[in-house]
Amino acid sequence: MILNKLFINSKYLFTMKHSIKILAITFFLSFLVITNFGDNAQALVSENNLNSYYREKAIHNPDGIGKFYMGREIAQVMGHQAMMWLERPSRVKEERPQGVVEALDLKPTDTVADLGTGTGYFAFRIAPLVPQGKVLAIDIQPEMLDVVEFLKTENQVTNVETVLGKVDNPNLPPNSIDLALMVDAYHEFEYPREMMEGLVTALKPGGRVVLVEYRKENPIIFIKPLHKMTQRQVKKEMQAVGLTWNKTGNFLPQQHFMVFEK
Ligand SMILES: C[S@@+](CC[C@H](N)C(=O)[O-])C[C@H]1O[C@@H](n2cnc3c(N)ncnc32)[C@H](O)[C@@H]1O
Repeated sequence: MILNKLFINSKYLFTMKHSIKILAITFFLSFLVITNFGDNAQALVSENNLNSYYREKAIHNPDGIGKFYMGREIAQVMGHQAMMWLERPSRVKEERPQGVVEALDLKPTDTVADLGTGTGYFAFRIAPLVPQGKVLAIDIQPEMLDVVEFLKTENQVTNVETVLGKVDNPNLPPNSIDLALMVDAYHEFEYPREMMEGLVTALKPGGRVVLVEYRKENPIIFIKPLHKMTQRQVKKEMQAVGLTWNKTGNFLPQQHFMVFEK
């Protein structure tokens, strides 16, 4: 009986000791894992803050690329396969392109960068206004630039030059342009911060940047939300690269015409 009791007690004692040991080891290991994890998590946050202006999200708008800049999701690039959309005859009424080029207030000697030129819809309308200057038609899709080259030859235009840009670099020399125009393009730049920094460097002192974007404030403009921008968002993003807002023209049927200065 006594033996039996002792055996139970020792067994009980053994189990207690064992459990305390296991608990201590578990506690120590958890401590190590938690501190290590904490360090890694901290490093990750610091890296994101220091090296990137962007955030990525797995759940996002199907028209976007899942990458966010200053609270806005970046839209997918319009592929060259859809280029005929840019040349649709109804565009003249819907976007008043002649009103856009007249409002640019250009000098005959100006060098203009048409960034995200597509088929050169705006580049060819600007070219006659800068007879002693030139238009740099920039795009990341060589197929778009092939069309610009074809139309140049076809229409004997001599002051439009094509430039193949990179997703994060407009490929323009410093202090080389008087004005940069972006029509329906900026919202789909994959690296808007780097593109705008490159563009600001390329602008001459006092140079201007004009953005034409569909008005997101108006819900009954039937354009996909990621392909529209509010004035507030555009100003925030341009101010971030040191540009100063000059004015917004509201003369277009559906788009903002926003002017910034270096
Ligand atoms: C919707 S289209 C507009 C074309 C033209 N601006 C127009 O209004 O007819 C947008 C164009 O921007 C170009 N694009 C997108 N990201 C770009 C970038 N980082 N640099 C230059 N072009 C870019 C696309 O390849 C596409 O041709």
